[in-house]
Amino acid sequence: MSILVTGGAGYIGSHTLVSLLEKGEDVTVIDNFDNSSPVALERVRQITGRSFKTYTGDCCDEALLTQIMNENDIEAVIHFAGHKAVGESVEKPLKYYENNLESTISLLNAMLKCGVKKLIFSSSATVYSGENTVPFTESGRLGCINPYGWTKFMNEQIIRDTAYANKELCCVLLRYFNPVGAHESGLIGEDPNGIPNNLMPYICQTAVGRREHLTVFGDDYPTPDGTGVRDYLHVVDLAEGHVCALAYARTHDGCEAINLGTGTGYSVLDMVKAFEKANGVKVPYVIGPRRSGDLAICYSDPTKAHRLLNWKAERTLEDMCRDGWRWQSRNPQGYGTQA
Ligand code: NAD
Ligand code: UD1
Repeated sequence: MSILVTGGAGYIGSHTLVSLLEKGEDVTVIDNFDNSSPVALERVRQITGRSFKTYTGDCCDEALLTQIMNENDIEAVIHFAGHKAVGESVEKPLKYYENNLESTISLLNAMLKCGVKKLIFSSSATVYSGENTVPFTESGRLGCINPYGWTKFMNEQIIRDTAYANKELCCVLLRYFNPVGAHESGLIGEDPNGIPNNLMPYICQTAVGRREHLTVFGDDYPTPDGTGVRDYLHVVDLAEGHVCALAYARTHDGCEAINLGTGTGYSVLDMVKAFEKANGVKVPYVIGPRRSGDLAICYSDPTKAHRLLNWKAERTLEDMCRDGWRWQSRNPQGYGTQA
């Protein structure tokens, strides 16, 4: 039996492959490398000493997914594949609705056809309405402010309805907070296309000299130092959360939404200071205006993950900063070139 990992060459997918392979699982990958490099998969092989089958293809192709499930005795699917850039989703909403919804519908159709009963889906804290108070619990109000967020919201509903109509399915909707850092080997990590939108890759690229300075988006929020607060989570902890979710899915049915976060919030300036301290480098920054759509404070209540999945984030902020920097400093151009 094998676990099908869609989008396995991406940032979270590649780390999850390592965690699965290290647990002795057999995996099969499909990726169209739209936002990733096949080098990431070579590095996963290098870290784990394990090989696995990879299909270069599109998850919107139901016939291909059906073929993969039949050829590889697929037991469960972990579905990472999707577009994820918030700003681009506002400019090109149809690109996002088409790819992110079509891939999930094709996958569910193929699963039903092939008798695959377990699905772990990459959702996001972005499905929570800003009206909630922190910490965000799974029963909080949902609502989004951009097309990317709506694709996560709609995918959750599509999966929930499919699980309701097919009682033999078990679907776990994992709502990630802010994954950062990299595998401790420094061989795999986040490699965003173009100028990073997210804080941690921007800090790393500033420290390595690819960006002149970080712009802090607003210092007048109602937070202790005025900058935005988020729940940063080590990507290897997040990867291990998928292994726990798989164990849960193997012994349950139904559909559950579960937060994956640490439950602790750090501000933008906390992150800058922690990064400088952990790595002995400078991160020049300037204060700029707020970014539209940003919440002041967002962090999780992770108790449901602990209760149902027996999962808790273990790694510290220092681990996140140190491992993120090891990846960035050894691979200043990401998978493009090595140091
Ligand atoms: P990523 O872009 O690094 O990985 C996604 C992978 O999916 C890429 O390798 C891409 O090439 C592939 N892909 C996209 N569309 C595809 C398609 N139609 N067919 C085949 N492959 C396709 O992103 P990531 O950060 O690893 O995120 C993984 C998932 O987690 C995404 O669904 C994302 O929306 C979600 N998520 C990410 C974050 C985050 O901060 N990184 C937070 C919350 C949720
Ligand atoms: C972003 C996404 C969100 C996604 C989440 C998880 C946006 C608008 N939202 O949210 O949909 O679910 O990532 O990865 O992209 N910051 C700066 N300067 C920068 C970059 C960020 O000050 O150059 C600040 C932001 O204002 C925020 C914090 O850093 O306070 C974190 O930002 P980011 O990494 O983009 O994550 P989110 O805003 O949580």
